[in-house]
Amino acid sequence: MKEIIHKDFEIFLGDDGLAHLAEILIEEGYSKIFILMDTNTKRHCWPILSPYLVDFLPIVIPDGESSKSLVQAEKIWETLQKNFADRRSVLLNLGGGVISDLGGFCAATYKRGIDFINIPTSLLGMVDAAIGGKLGIDFLGYKNSIGLFKHPKQIIVYPNFIKTLSQEEIRNGLAEVAKHGLIDDKSLFEKLSNLDNQALDKAGNLIFQSIKIKAQIVKKDPFEKDLRKVLNFGHTIGHAIETWSLLNDTVPLKHGEAIAIGMICEAYMSKELLGLSNPELAQITQYFTKRYPFYNKTWDEIQLIEFMRNDKKNVDGLINFTLLKRIGKAKINMQCHEELILKALSYYRQLKP
Ligand SMILES: NC(=O)c1ccc[n+]([C@@H]2O[C@H](COP(=O)([O-])OP(=O)(O)OC[C@H]3O[C@@H](n4cnc5c(N)ncnc54)[C@H](O)[C@@H]3O)[C@@H](O)[C@H]2O)c1
Ligand SMILES: [Zn+2]
Repeated sequence: MKEIIHKDFEIFLGDDGLAHLAEILIEEGYSKIFILMDTNTKRHCWPILSPYLVDFLPIVIPDGESSKSLVQAEKIWETLQKNFADRRSVLLNLGGGVISDLGGFCAATYKRGIDFINIPTSLLGMVDAAIGGKLGIDFLGYKNSIGLFKHPKQIIVYPNFIKTLSQEEIRNGLAEVAKHGLIDDKSLFEKLSNLDNQALDKAGNLIFQSIKIKAQIVKKDPFEKDLRKVLNFGHTIGHAIETWSLLNDTVPLKHGEAIAIGMICEAYMSKELLGLSNPELAQITQYFTKRYPFYNKTWDEIQLIEFMRNDKKNVDGLINFTLLKRIGKAKINMQCHEELILKALSYYRQLKP
């Protein structure tokens, strides 16, 4: 089924997604087709996509966050340039969030912008990263610090790609699905809570519901001026913990694991500031503690607050939060005192794993 979310881009979700992609490529009459993928998506997803394409140039990069770098961007621009990509060329991003952030960034800047099409292959990519037009790379240790906004020409969601994802990656993506439920749709959060395990074959509709929520929010606020901040629930504290873990742990927390902790802490703050009820706080806490590993490292709270202060979404040095009034209803632009943030971190620490 095809969903037109914004005049500039369409999301196509379904088992016939790849056939639809083939049609678009013919319709558009692109001069050259480049496909960016990482080593894993080359192995698992490329064999499924390639029968639908006729003439193309693959670009393969190592998998992982470290590829979201200027070094890889340069290699991609070099390949485009050496193969005479012109403004009627297109880049297909076949992969998770690393590929869509990096590939989108390279396409949006090459010759002042060529078309790119996102074909997300990770759950996180499908429900989050591929949608919304935030593109970029990490720089000098700071995540996403160089980048721009530009929407892909199309987003093709072919859910079967998820079959080869590890359980860990599925859990990573499900954290964002849960967030979408918490901020916008109680029924989504409840359906997710009722899944006996994280079996994704039962969660197909939840993916669709989740994509719709993200897409509708982006449509209302494409450049993150205001409303889109609603998507930051759990991310102010979550990002700080993620950064701390990246700097201190040999096996750092995944984004989904970090924001799961962030959502528990920010739900606690929501209770204190917005009157989120005790039963709903307990429900949220239980949801995440049951499914995500308990993180019992002794983090440095002062440093965490420092990371929160440095978040690029803050204005005037105040730490900005999106909190919940209740499950399914969020409130943006909540500035909070340090004291409450520390209390929220202690709330998490005293939980029993
Ligand atoms: N632009 C945005 O709005 C936005 C939103 C959220 C996250 N992000 C970014 O997205 C990135 C995280 O995304 P991610 O979790 O998809 O990371 P990722 O792209 O690194 O993918 C995770 C892992 O799964 C592998 N993989 C992907 N699809 C697979 C498949 N079908 N089968 C087997 N393995 C597969 C990848 O090779 C990788 O090892 C981060 O860089 C984050 O900053 C961007
Ligand atoms: Zn996130």
